[in-house]
Formats: sequence, structure tokens, C-alpha cells
Amino acid sequence: MPQDDLFSLVGRNALVTGGGGRIGGAIAERLAIQGASSVVLVDINPAALAAVAGRVKDLGGTAYTVEGDVSTPEGVREAVAKALEFVDQIDILINNAGRGSHTFPEDLSYEEWSEIFQLNLTGYFLMAQAVGRQMIEKAIRGAIVMTSSTCGAVAMGRGNFAYSISKAGVNHLTKELALEWGHFGIRVNAIEPCQVDAPSMDDLLARDDPSGTALRERVLGGIPLGRLAQPEEMAGPVAFLVSDAAAMVTGTILPVDGGNLACNAAASIRR
Ligand SMILES: NC(=O)c1ccc[n+]([C@@H]2O[C@H](COP(=O)([O-])OP(=O)(O)OC[C@H]3O[C@@H](n4cnc5c(N)ncnc54)[C@H](O)[C@@H]3O)[C@@H](O)[C@H]2O)c1
Repeated sequence: MPQDDLFSLVGRNALVTGGGGRIGGAIAERLAIQGASSVVLVDINPAALAAVAGRVKDLGGTAYTVEGDVSTPEGVREAVAKALEFVDQIDILINNAGRGSHTFPEDLSYEEWSEIFQLNLTGYFLMAQAVGRQMIEKAIRGAIVMTSSTCGAVAMGRGNFAYSISKAGVNHLTKELALEWGHFGIRVNAIEPCQVDAPSMDDLLARDDPSGTALRERVLGGIPLGRLAQPEEMAGPVAFLVSDAAAMVTGTILPVDGGNLACNAAASIRR
């Protein structure tokens, strides 16, 4: 590898939450390909963790797995402590574990709202705080990337209420942390994926939209590139944001959405 490769992650350890999932797994593989010394995968699903760790190792990378729940203070504390038994320091944090919610605001229970916020926003803060503290203590010029969503920027409707608001919170968490920790040399950015191709997305898109137009048609009609994203397509932008190529990039919320957020309600993507 050339010595001046700005995209190289050689010598850096990364921690990826939701590392057993589609996007988290793809990010972990990409970080390993870019030369990261090790990738610590944190997830509640042990089988998913083992599968992704196997793929990282097949690529010649080093993966460690931590089974843990990143939605609680104790879970985050334990996960970071276990990660630091495997690696001396964490240079890169990818806050990515998250889940959706499809309940209209008038039907949403306090419990569901709380669960979504606990994982999608409070968990991101707690993990950033725990990993950020060790970056500050060890004078690590670290990089943090949050997986947000296009619905963190603009409202989605269709009951994505709690999810969407939690992702808007992730965007502001990103900006506040970038401001607070910039002088430590810690950079904090986020990506906003559009809908990612997956069996669960197929089920969702097969439903009819209340407008009468098939949901798939509506979603693709708002994506100038005309297709859903692949999980791997989230990984390149993340690898850029945590690399030295992005040394002057912090507080940025990067849409990775095939152009979705560039469209307004009157947009036509076909001429
Ligand atoms: N898939 C999409 O279309 C899409 C679009 C925009 C944003 N996102 C965001 O991308 C991120 C990853 O989503 P994905 O599509 O890869 O989903 P996924 O379900 O494949 O992966 C999520 C992973 O998080 C893990 N997880 C869930 N709760 C956890 C907890 N309490 N502690 C630790 N791990 C936990 C799950 O076991 C799973 O492996 C999420 O934050 C999601 O909101 C996804």
C-alpha cells in the first residue's frame, strides 16, 4: 500500500455497533479492506456476529465479537470494557445499531417511543460518550460516524414517526459532538442512507401506499438513481469519513441516498 494513501486505516481499531447487521456488517468488511488493525463487532445477535466476523477474517482482517445490548448504560459500559480487553484503544466508532417503528403517532405507546429512543438515540450518545472519553484520555484523534437516515432530515410519514424523530436527534447529536470535541481532534459525522435493499424492505414496498400508488413506485420515484441502495454502498462513504481523506470534515451529515434528498415534492426524475 502506498505510504501516502489517505484512505488507509492501517494501525486503527474500530468498533461497530449493530456489527452483525446488513449495513454494520458491510461497514466492518470495508474497514478491514482499508487496512484497519481490528474491527470489534458489537451486537445482540450472536449468530449474526459470528457470520460477519467470519467474513472479516476471510478478507484477511481481524475481528472480535462482543455480544451486548447498546441501548442501556450498563450494556454500553460492558461492551466498551470488553472491547478494550481485545484492543488497546478504539480509534474509530461506528454508531449503527438501530431499529424501525411503524406506528402512527395517535397509536404510539410511551413504551414503544421509549424503546426506539433508547436504542436509536440514547444508545448512540452513551456509546459516543464512553468511546469519546477514552479518545480524550488517550489523546486519540479519533473518528465517529453515526448511521442516521434520510428521514432524519425530512419527515417520512406512514408511521415512521418515532424512528424519524430519533434519527433527527442523531443528526443533531452529530453536530453538537463535532462542536464539543473538535478541539480534541475528534471528528464526528453521520451518513443518511435511503431505503436499503433487503427482504424486509421487499415486504414493506409490496404494500400499497394510502395514496393508491404502490409504495415501491413512490419510493423509487423519489430516488434519481432509480434503485434502492445496497448495504455495501453505505460502507465506502463511512470509510472515507473515518479516514485521513476526510481530515477537515466534521459535523457533516452525508446523504447516501441516490439523490433522494435533492428532490422536492414537485420533482420529476424522468424527462
Ligand atoms: N435498512 C435501511 O433501509 C436503512 C435505511 C436508513 C437507515 N438505516 C439505519 O441503518 C442502521 C443499520 O440498519 P440495517 O438495515 O443494517 O439493519 P439490521 O437489522 O440488518 O442491523 C441492525 C443490527 O443491530 C442489532 N441490534 C438491534 N438492537 C440492538 C441492541 N440493543 N444492541 C446491540 N445491537 C442491536 C441487530 O441485531 C442487527 O444485527 C440502523 O441504524 C438503521 O436505522 C437503515
